[in-house]
Amino acid sequence: MNDTRTAYLNGEFMPLSQARISPMDRGFLFGDSVYEVIPAYDGRFFRLEAHIERLHRSLDEIRLDLGMADSDLRSIVENVKDRDGGGDIAIYIQVSRGAPTTRDLRAPRGRPTVFATSLSPKGVSDEIRDHGVPAATARDIRWGACHIKSTALLANVMAMQEAGEGAVEAIMIRDECVTEGGSSNVFVVRDDRVLTAPRDHRILAGITRDVVLEVLGELSIESSEEQIPESALHSADEIWITSSTREVWPVTALDGDAVGNGIPGPVWRAVDARYQDVKRAQ
Ligand code: PDD
Repeated sequence: MNDTRTAYLNGEFMPLSQARISPMDRGFLFGDSVYEVIPAYDGRFFRLEAHIERLHRSLDEIRLDLGMADSDLRSIVENVKDRDGGGDIAIYIQVSRGAPTTRDLRAPRGRPTVFATSLSPKGVSDEIRDHGVPAATARDIRWGACHIKSTALLANVMAMQEAGEGAVEAIMIRDECVTEGGSSNVFVVRDDRVLTAPRDHRILAGITRDVVLEVLGELSIESSEEQIPESALHSADEIWITSSTREVWPVTALDGDAVGNGIPGPVWRAVDARYQDVKRAQ
C-alpha cells in the first residue's frame, strides 16, 4: 500500500495507513455499501456531476441516507484529490450503512461510514495503444441489480478468476449475451456498427460508456445499445472495454484468439483520439 495517500473517513482526513473502521461495519459484514470512482485530469474532475448523480441513484436504490449536502461531498473529493497532488488521479468514495452494535440484516438508520481515497488511473499506455489487451469470457453469475454500484463484487472477482491470469478483463456472458466486463463496460464493432449492451439492471451504466456514445455521435459513427449475442463477440472486428480508470482500451485477444487483425482497430483509434481531447477540454 502506498502509505502517503490520503484517506477521508467520517469527517477527518488522515494518512491512509491510519484509517480504521469497525469489524461490525455493514460494508464488511454484508457488502451493504456503494461506491464511486471519479477521475481527474490536470487536477480537474471529469464528469463529476454524473458521478455524484450516480452515487445518489445507488444510495436511493438501497435506501441509504448519506446525510450530507452535495457541496460537502464535492469538498471531500476535491480535498483528497488536492492533498494527493492533483494531476491525473482518480478518487474512490465508498458509503456503507455504518457499524451498528448488532449483526442484523434489517437496515438500521445509524450514521453511514464515508470513506474516500485516491488511486492512480491506468489510462491508455503506449503499450496498450500499440498492442491492446487480452480478455476472456466468463459466466455472469451476478444478481438482478447490477445497475447499483455496489461494493459487493464477489461475483466479479469470481469472473476474473474464471477468465484466468492471462486476461486483463473478464467479459461476462448472461443468457448467451454480453453484459459487461468485471469492472468495465464492453463495446463491440461489427460490420461498421458499434454495439454495447442496453442500459438496464444487467449492467452498470458507465459514465465512460456515456462519453464514448457521445464521441461516436460526434464522429458520425453508427452505434446501438442492444443485446450482443456471444457469437457476435467472437466474430467482432473490434472489442473495447471502458471505465473511469482505464478510459477506452482495445481488446485484441479474446479467449486466446485474435480479435479482428489482432491489433487495435481503426474505429478504436478514432474514438480514443477524440476521447483524449474531450477529457482534457473541460
Ligand atoms: N469500475 N461496469 C462495472 C461492473 C464497473 O465496475 C465499472 C467501473 C464500469 C464502468 O463505469 P465507469 O465508466 O463509470 O467507470 C462498468 C470502477 C472503475 C472500479 O470498480 O474501479
